[in-house]
Amino acid sequence: MFYNDKVLEHFFDPKNIGEIPDADGVGTIGDPACGDCIKLYIKVEDRRITDIKFKVYGCPAAIGTSSITTEIAMGKTLDEAYQIDDEDVIRALGGLPDQKIHCSVLCPAALRLAILDYVSKLRQQVLEGKQAEN
Ligand code: FES
Repeated sequence: MFYNDKVLEHFFDPKNIGEIPDADGVGTIGDPACGDCIKLYIKVEDRRITDIKFKVYGCPAAIGTSSITTEIAMGKTLDEAYQIDDEDVIRALGGLPDQKIHCSVLCPAALRLAILDYVSKLRQQVLEGKQAEN
């Protein structure tokens, strides 16, 4: 099994690694089949993702696909970011070994969960009569 240079670049030097302590949305997901797990944080302003970070316990493909997913999502509207899927991730990386295709599903799923978490918090603010700030 061989990873291409782009995957290796994102594996050895992943972008947007870390946490956002005051994140507007957080998504966590794991793959029970392999035990890999991703936690992803977003900051939102004017319905756009203005910051995004992730922590991952996983294989090189999980790290590489998470890194590129955060690069794709940065600056996107929430609607655009919600549409990012495994095919976008694989295309941006220039491909993945067949045995690692499934790894590309995790981070887009964590991103969707983070967006849903943000929307859920916004909804709660509205229900409580608070002014939405984002
Ligand atoms: Fe589990 Fe790659 S083997 S995400």
